[in-house]
Order: sequence, then C-alpha cells, then structure tokens
Amino acid sequence: MPVGIDDISFYTANFSLDLQELAANNGSDAAKYTVGIGQERMSVPGADEDVVTMAANACVPLLEGMAQRGEGTNAINTILFATETGIDQSKAAGVYLHSLLKLNPRCRVVELKQACYSATAALQLATAWVARKPQEKVLVVASDIARYDRQTPGEATQGCGAVAMIVSANPRLVALDPETGIHTEDVMDFWRPNYRSTALVDGKYSTKVYLRCVRSAWQDFQQQSQLQFGNFDYFCYHLPFSRMAQKAHNHLANGNAHELSAQALEDQISSSLIYNRITGNSYTAAMYIGLISLLDNTALDLAGKRVGFFSYGSGSVGEFFTGTLVDGYQSMLHSEGHQSMLASRKPLNYAEYQTMYGFEVPVDGGDHAFAEQTNGKFRLAGISQHKRLYEAR
Ligand code: COA
Repeated sequence: MPVGIDDISFYTANFSLDLQELAANNGSDAAKYTVGIGQERMSVPGADEDVVTMAANACVPLLEGMAQRGEGTNAINTILFATETGIDQSKAAGVYLHSLLKLNPRCRVVELKQACYSATAALQLATAWVARKPQEKVLVVASDIARYDRQTPGEATQGCGAVAMIVSANPRLVALDPETGIHTEDVMDFWRPNYRSTALVDGKYSTKVYLRCVRSAWQDFQQQSQLQFGNFDYFCYHLPFSRMAQKAHNHLANGNAHELSAQALEDQISSSLIYNRITGNSYTAAMYIGLISLLDNTALDLAGKRVGFFSYGSGSVGEFFTGTLVDGYQSMLHSEGHQSMLASRKPLNYAEYQTMYGFEVPVDGGDHAFAEQTNGKFRLAGISQHKRLYEAR
C-alpha cells in the first residue's frame, strides 16, 4: 500500500523586500544576491503574523479541498508541527493551529525541532503512523521565519513561509519510498540559543557541512536502496538560498552522472527554485516549497517521475529520500492560489523594511493589540498577559 503526500500547499507573508533595494542601501553589489546566492526577494512578516498564523493560512486550501470533496477532517488524528521559530518553550504551536482549524479533539499534537530538517522527521514519522493505521491521516506542517542580524551576510538570506501537507495511504500526489539515507554529525554551523531572536551562523562553514552531509546521506542511501543517480528525474534540496541547491546538485552529480550535461543537471532542479528565489529562506518549509514550486511550474506531465529529496538541518542532520508523482496529481495542485498570493505581496522600501524588522513582541505582560497587516485568513490579533490571541477573518 503506497503512503505519502496526498495534498500540499504553502503560504508566505504579504510583504517583500527586493534584494536590489537591500543592496542599494548596504553597499553590496546586487549581482552578489541575484547571481552569487541566486535570490531576488525575501518575504517579510507583519507584526500580526507568526509561525501559527502562517501555518494556519497554509492549511486553508487543504481543508477547503477536503470540504469540497466531502471528505471531512475527522480522519486527521495527528498534527506534527515542525519549526525552529518556536513561540513557546512548553505549549506546542500545533495546539493553537488545531484550535484555529477547528479539528477533531481526538488528535495528538506535537512540535518537532532539528533546525531546517525537522519537517522531514515529521514526514517520516507520519508515513510510519499511516502505514500502521491506513484509515488515519496526519497533518504535517512546517513554518518558520528566517531572521539574522542586520548588516550580516545572513541578512540577504532571510524570508519566511509555511507548508502544510496531508499524509495518507494511497496518496494522490507523491508516493514516498521507505528507503532513506541519513547522516547526523555534531557541528556548530548555525544555531540560535534560547535568549536570541536571531540565528548565529558560520555561513561559509555551513555550506561546506551541507555539501559533506549530502554526500554522506547519499552514500547511506546507496546502502539502503538499489536506486542510482540515473533513476531520478528531478531533485529537491533544502534551500537556504537557491544557489545552494545548484552547488549541492553538482556536488552529488560529480562522479555519479557522467552522461548528463550541465544543462540537463540544471533542468533537474530549476523549477524547484522558482518560489524560493522570491520568498527567501523558510527553514523547515524551504525544501517543501521547492517541491510545490516544481509541481506548480512544470508544464510537463510528471506522473511516474521520480524525485530525490535532500533535507538538511544545521547542527546537523541530513536525509536523502525519494518519491514518485502519482497519476492525476494535477487535480490536487493549488498553483493559482500560490501564484496570486505571491503576486499580491506588497513591496517594501528600505525604510519600511527597517521598521518592520525592528518590531519586537511586547514582553511586559500588558494588553497589546496588533495592527492588521496580513491579508491572510488567520492573524495574531495581539498579546494579553503573555497569552497570544489569534483570530480568523
Ligand atoms: N556578482 C556575482 N557573484 C558574486 C558577486 C557579484 N558581484 N559578489 C559575490 N558573488 C558570489 C561569490 O563568489 C559567492 O559565490 P560562491 O559561493 O559560488 O563562491 C557568493 O556570491 C556569495 O558571496 P560570499 O562572499 O561568499 O558571500 P557572504 O560572505 O556574504 O556569505 C552566505 C554568503 C550564504 C554564506 C551567507 O549569506 C550566509 O551566511 N547565509 C546564512 C547561512 C546559510 O544560508 N547557510 C547555508 C547552509 S544551511
């Protein structure tokens, strides 16, 4: 019985900063961003958005689709919420999400963390649960805001976004294979101590460790599976910035893909990079926005095509796994909604970006209402006595 992704959608904030605007104001050459790291814009969250509201907004098309097909949501008995932008040290962000989506109380909810990798841990756990109880469905969400200190190399690789996936038996989108390649290694390439709101990163070292990890995870995959590089049609990589996928793909292809031209290698990843180039990094969600980008932006029928996924989370854990596109998958896509959401973002000038970057959630325990900034269906209305108040519109 195949198990995998039955439906998938993503959401990003309603504001964006063009990296040419950033370059014009920080003295960088814009080509360093557009060519060197392969990024054009980054999404910037409003004060009334956080990982919960982005996740809830990412879930809307999935729940609307289930309602239209008369499926109901009672089969969802687990929510796995992957994030490294946690809003609470105790309460799982997924519990707020469960409430906003009005899901069945008979639903286990938990939050997972391992930098940008944890959505893949969530997905693998979900497939195991579903294999055991095929009548049940798992809602996997990945939601993050990538935030670095101003005037650092990381600043241009900020962004935000959330992905929601329904994992089920007989999936209508991607059937996942059980064989995976894994590599864990204790390194300090990127981390965020509890007392900081911005990440610390040794950027150049992190790209080296990422490349080492992709090779090690692939080697382990080859011990677990008969599949060779030539059996894959497309690849999706973790996307801190789109050039990273090109580096990783060339690194993996080196020694494995003698017969493929540089253009053929580029064609295996280019569609997966389109959305990330304009949303920026979204940590746990990034590789899965890459999958959506591949599906939404490839005119060819991909049914039967095999995709290789490399998920990386600093610190570090990497996993290489595979899936095959299911016949008729096109009927499950939300391409128009994604494209109109991206097109309707409000561009920020540098001064507006500085103001939005400077917003800090009040920590005084008072009653604070937040101005309406997001267009999303769900928003963070305010904070009162240290409690987050969410609302649906
Ligand atoms: N035109 C074209 N390319 C240019 C350029 C220009 N004017 N100026 C620089 N570049 C290229 C560089 O040659 C380099 O390419 P290369 O990596 O292929 O050698 C690239 O742009 C980046 O330049 P670099 O000087 O290395 O940038 P940086 O010191 O600002 O750091 C990162 C880049 C990615 C390390 C930094 O953005 C970062 O720390 N990001 C956050 C962490 C991260 O994303 N880690 C990834 C693993 S998860």
